[in-house]
Amino acid sequence: MPAPFIDRVIRRQGWLEGVGDFVQAAVRRSYRALGPLGPGLRDLLHGSRGLGHPLHPALTDLPLGAWTAGVVMDYVAHFTTAIGPQAGDIALAIGLVTSLPAIASGLTDSQDTYGHERRANMLHGLTMTLAVLLMAASLGLRWWAGFGLHPLAVGISTAGLIVAMAGMYVGGHLTFAMGTMVNRSAFLSGPADFVSLGASGDFPEGTLRRVDAGGLPVLVVRRGGQLYAMGAVCSHAGGPLEAGELNGTVVTCPWHGSRFDVRSGSVRRGPATFGQPRLIVKEAGGMAEAKLEHPLQ
Ligand code: FES
Repeated sequence: MPAPFIDRVIRRQGWLEGVGDFVQAAVRRSYRALGPLGPGLRDLLHGSRGLGHPLHPALTDLPLGAWTAGVVMDYVAHFTTAIGPQAGDIALAIGLVTSLPAIASGLTDSQDTYGHERRANMLHGLTMTLAVLLMAASLGLRWWAGFGLHPLAVGISTAGLIVAMAGMYVGGHLTFAMGTMVNRSAFLSGPADFVSLGASGDFPEGTLRRVDAGGLPVLVVRRGGQLYAMGAVCSHAGGPLEAGELNGTVVTCPWHGSRFDVRSGSVRRGPATFGQPRLIVKEAGGMAEAKLEHPLQ
């Protein structure tokens, strides 16, 4: 089966690598410049804290909805007297203002992409940037050049909306075809009833051990004598948590530094936005057993 057309196009765009280097370095520098505020803001824009879901797709609904409404109202105002031309202008302005946090969250998520996925991400970002510039140019024409140029401004915002739809298509491809920012635990299954993890002695204090529990890769950690277990495959991009670092009850993923609390599986730091599946552990007769706290599907 041939690769989808969009993938064949992206693979030919070697120049996107340079764009990716530039953008990722600029975003890293910006977060470093924010000092102690950087990690918290980064987590907020990923959606790692509280939301339990990436923030970017929720934020993009605001500008795209406003721009779509604005262009529709432009044409209604042009062909009827039902509304005035200012309705479209205001919707366009709302779209531009609400695009700013969407851009910030998209740039933050783009930090942890590589290779083909990163090229697609850069194409998505560049396309959406062009859409924003077209919308800004249209708004500028409306407000500073007078009503005589209004039809031209409507034409530019229409072009902006078409470009934005192309960018949305690439963004959808990133998520649905490449799995960017999707929950890597979503397709796993695990034990609904207690299954053996091994002998209690296999899990000494303060070590990270990966075992199979009813088909689910599980990370087992003993802390303060208590045994904890959670999914071993990082929910962000599939990193092996048993190769990470343990500090207290917090495990840091070796790939992009997401942190999870082994007691609950919850995210302590992004880029992960989904927690790890937690297992209930019991020890008896020198053996350890576990089962999922909640079904995975
Ligand atoms: S795979 Fe990205 S933080 Fe774990």
